[in-house]
Amino acid sequence: MFAPKIGELFPQALRFSAPAGGRLTAEQQAALARDGFLVLEQMIAAADCDTLMARAGELVADFDPASVTSIFSTRGQVHGRDRYFQDSGDKIRFFFEEEAFDAEGRLRQDKRLSINKIGHAQHDLDPVFARFSRLPQLAALAGSLGLAQPLLLQSMYIFKQPRIGGEVGWHQDATFLYTEPLSVVGLWFALEDATLENGCLWALPGGHRGPLRERWRRTGGTLLAMERLDETPWPEEGIPLEVPKGSLVVLHGKLPHGSGPNRSSVSRHAYTLHLIDGAATYAADNWLQRGPGMPLRGFDTAQAVKT
Ligand code: FE2
Repeated sequence: MFAPKIGELFPQALRFSAPAGGRLTAEQQAALARDGFLVLEQMIAAADCDTLMARAGELVADFDPASVTSIFSTRGQVHGRDRYFQDSGDKIRFFFEEEAFDAEGRLRQDKRLSINKIGHAQHDLDPVFARFSRLPQLAALAGSLGLAQPLLLQSMYIFKQPRIGGEVGWHQDATFLYTEPLSVVGLWFALEDATLENGCLWALPGGHRGPLRERWRRTGGTLLAMERLDETPWPEEGIPLEVPKGSLVVLHGKLPHGSGPNRSSVSRHAYTLHLIDGAATYAADNWLQRGPGMPLRGFDTAQAVKT
């Protein structure tokens, strides 16, 4: 189980107010370079958080679980499940919590309380998500992260459901979204208060200065394999990043981070965006690949949402 100790030698996580306009200040850039993460409170208006949560609710309401029940609940369907995931880089798809289905393939509880996340291209395919993902302050922020050509690669809406919300173990985002040189940056938005009780993020301060431990790559067909690059162990200690609704946590692509399970009675909705530098080379064997009709886009809001 993901349950690191709170590192006594770590300083308290620095918290900043969102920079005016969105561009990071020199002090914030220095903190991100030193720690590998940056907490920016009040980056997103509460009303924008509420709008995104409402839209996620609509998408779930319109989603018919019967369309994927056979994929998720039947024995011997690992292949189909893998395909459902691997083909989602340019789609809006719904992923269930583990054990959401019973042995007969029925949801154990209402679908709204069974879904783990929505991914991975709603930032391009859905107008509400597209607008949120390109809010002016985020475009300005992206311009101050050191990326020559920031592109929005991946989005995830994470529910972290009450009581059954699963943990996410230590990982580095560059394991999954690899470019040469490394360029991925994670933007993690708290749409609700994130606390120790409902499964907030944890991070290893300064851990981005260590090696990339793993790469998850396509090995042909629909197979994905985790390749060990470095034997550096995962940390036993970290710091919890408890943040209020509307906060943004910026995560360096090599920063070890994760989150515990949600055993509380309240949800912990979050939205993540992963940016890469268009000037870097995107690995052809990354799991996430888009079809030719849907190139990656930046923060230009003039382009119409593809439907
Ligand atoms: Fe991550």
